[in-house]
Amino acid sequence: MNFQYSDDHIAIRDAAREFAENEIVSSAVERDKTGEFPTEIVQKLGELGFMGMMVSPEWGGAGLDTVCYVLAIEEISKIDASVGVIMSVNNSLVCWVIETFGSDEQKERFLRPLATGQKLGAYCLSEPGVGSDATQQATTATLQSDGSYLINGAKNWITNGTKADHYIVFAQTDPAKKHHGITAFLIDKGMPGFEVGLKEDKLGIRSSDTCSLGFTDVRVTADRILGTVGQGFKIAMETLNGGRIGIAAQALGIASGAMDKAVRYSFERYAFGKPINQLQTIQFKLADMQVKIEAARMLILRAARNKDAHESYIKEAAMAKLYASKIAMEVATEAIQVHGGYGYVREYLVERALRDAKITEIYEGTSEIQHIVIARQLLKEYEAS
Ligand code: CAA
Repeated sequence: MNFQYSDDHIAIRDAAREFAENEIVSSAVERDKTGEFPTEIVQKLGELGFMGMMVSPEWGGAGLDTVCYVLAIEEISKIDASVGVIMSVNNSLVCWVIETFGSDEQKERFLRPLATGQKLGAYCLSEPGVGSDATQQATTATLQSDGSYLINGAKNWITNGTKADHYIVFAQTDPAKKHHGITAFLIDKGMPGFEVGLKEDKLGIRSSDTCSLGFTDVRVTADRILGTVGQGFKIAMETLNGGRIGIAAQALGIASGAMDKAVRYSFERYAFGKPINQLQTIQFKLADMQVKIEAARMLILRAARNKDAHESYIKEAAMAKLYASKIAMEVATEAIQVHGGYGYVREYLVERALRDAKITEIYEGTSEIQHIVIARQLLKEYEAS
């Protein structure tokens, strides 16, 4: 595998870094306290092409590859993982799925405004009683005599939930067919019977927006079906394969942000008559943290490059997410340890990394689910070889 970045990769990484340092960092601490959504930042990201990075220019996107995307998500998440997930969901879980499975009419109507950042999207699979066991969708979509569907049910933990304009909603259209009876629908905020819940008060990624949604006889016409009737579960899974690469990059950003702070602090803090980075115990910690970050980066780049080369990336994406989220927790914990007591208070900013890291082991498939996906895929590959 070629690990060389192209000029485009470097330019996008640097542009994202500059944007994060100039436009995001100043409000990150306050938004973490208040939970305020970064509306203006998201608007600017849209204007710069970061909300539809991989979408073809034909539909208003930036037409970039997945490597550019992960480099940008890492840089943004290094400064603020809340902004990272808002961006990741819109790019991976909303724009990608409409571009891949939508009709031209749906692309014009939904994808273009989402890819240009004029509108925001959400992906709605989880339910109050359905998380990891995603085949068991309880939300129903019942076919009416005029060809429309009535949607009833509830969705939970929806990123961008209160702020989104368009929602991709998975619902059961034919319970007898189990997961082959699930269908994906495009739903707009404000449709009669569609209720948006209150923003959740979370441990981390506090300025991102997470809520539950309710559907009571929401009437949806057939032109809002994404893909075909019964194709919804496959769409949901394929979308998450790409989404997991984005979340892995978010986790990597959290880890590398915590690492930067730990290294910087290790020069400033003196103990036993010298900077603490001259103490072997701190050097060993920094070395371990760096190895984990670089290993996670390699797994993420491998998954991104497989996706760009149209090769299988199910296992690679799950491995990248599993490992990057694990090391984000470990690196954030060690970054706090390097800071000692100062790491435990908000002023030194590393405690936020630990709070933000935890969700990367949960959403877009828990670490336990990633183990299942990796094991099944590797056994399949072994059998086929
Ligand atoms: N890619 C493509 N297809 C996949 C797939 C994948 N990664 N995983 C499963 N499938 C397909 C299977 O091939 C199978 O297809 P057929 O029936 O046509 O052969 C079908 O899906 C069902 O799969 P299984 O038989 O393996 O079903 P299972 O119940 O044993 O396992 C699961 C399914 C892998 C556990 C799946 O339910 C899963 O991935 N769960 C996790 C759900 C998840 O990630 N939720 C995150 C919520 S979204 C979120 O967090 C967004 C946010 O806002 C940040």
